[in-house]
Amino acid sequence: MTQGARITAIGTYVPAKRLTNHDLEKMVETNDEWILQRTGIRERRITRTDEYTSDLCIAAVEDLMRRFGIKVDDVDFVLVATSTPDFPFPSTASILQNRLGISTAAGAMDLSAACAGFVYGLHLAHSLIASGLHRKVLVVGAESLSKITDYTDRSTCILFGDGAGAVLVEASETDQFLGHHLGSDGSGAHQVYRTGLTASVNGVELTDSGRIVQNGREVFRWALRTVPQGVQELLNRAGIEMEQVDWFIPHSANLRMIEPICEKLNHPFERSLYSLVEYGNTSAASIPLALDLGIRDGRVKNGDVALLYGFGSGLTHAGQLVRLDFDPMVAEPTPL
Ligand code: COA
Repeated sequence: MTQGARITAIGTYVPAKRLTNHDLEKMVETNDEWILQRTGIRERRITRTDEYTSDLCIAAVEDLMRRFGIKVDDVDFVLVATSTPDFPFPSTASILQNRLGISTAAGAMDLSAACAGFVYGLHLAHSLIASGLHRKVLVVGAESLSKITDYTDRSTCILFGDGAGAVLVEASETDQFLGHHLGSDGSGAHQVYRTGLTASVNGVELTDSGRIVQNGREVFRWALRTVPQGVQELLNRAGIEMEQVDWFIPHSANLRMIEPICEKLNHPFERSLYSLVEYGNTSAASIPLALDLGIRDGRVKNGDVALLYGFGSGLTHAGQLVRLDFDPMVAEPTPL
């Protein structure tokens, strides 16, 4: 029999500096009404010049420790999902291991799956625990996207923001990970990217600006096709109906994507959680931020079933069905 796992604690953090739609009006040819209508985003949070992804991760884990009255020094694996690591190497996870006083015997690595990264991280944490080889895995989704956003490109700079969300996944008697589904299609690698050592893929010469470049319409169409199909496959495999899902938590890319996806799944939109209105698209951080918004305002309760679904660059997607079973929260979360 494989070992069960559950998420026992959560913590989140966003930087203090706000970038509103009105601020963007002064930077590019855009306006608040266009951004709100096309995306649902009102503002985003932006890191200071001397604030990096590892700093956001630490602040999210500190929120987790304070709220749940726990330490993380006995964690035996650290996974950081991010597209904006402090360095290509060493990993942000190694920096966390040291700054959080986690044992040098623990595993630590970054995970590159863009906006699906946090859900990929949950899947890996569950797998590490199910194998019996690990018992306590810290999964963090964190981004400093403002540092790689092109603030002269109005089609992308209105979307992205910075933030972090952390969860602890621990071995447990009952398995609260109820099902998963994931995939990747590199034929769409050139649809949303930032160049690295090369600027060519799929026979396409990429824009080598060091900034995020996106074919928004293509990604939009792909996600509207892929996510409802993926959710359906996940549910079929888990033997669970969509009506049994209390909270649908898709990646917070755009409200105009979440609404039709809910419609296709016949899922009431009010039973979805998203973080984009106040934080924009925070890639790997968007799903834990959305879940925590629901926990912080009391909508989400222990025992609820949540379906998390990340999607984005790769093109990559990942879904995870979990029953929420946190240890009771003993302290107030740090205000965001
Ligand atoms: N303000 C004002 N006008 C803008 C604008 C802005 N910020 N950005 C684009 N426009 C203009 C375009 O130039 C275009 O003008 P035209 O018709 O004169 O050519 C028009 O608005 C429509 O542009 P389009 O790109 O078709 O808009 P859209 O409705 O597809 O919305 C996105 C653009 C990026 C918001 C949307 O495509 C999207 O969210 N895509 C998915 C992104 C995603 O999921 N990423 C996941 C990986 S992170």
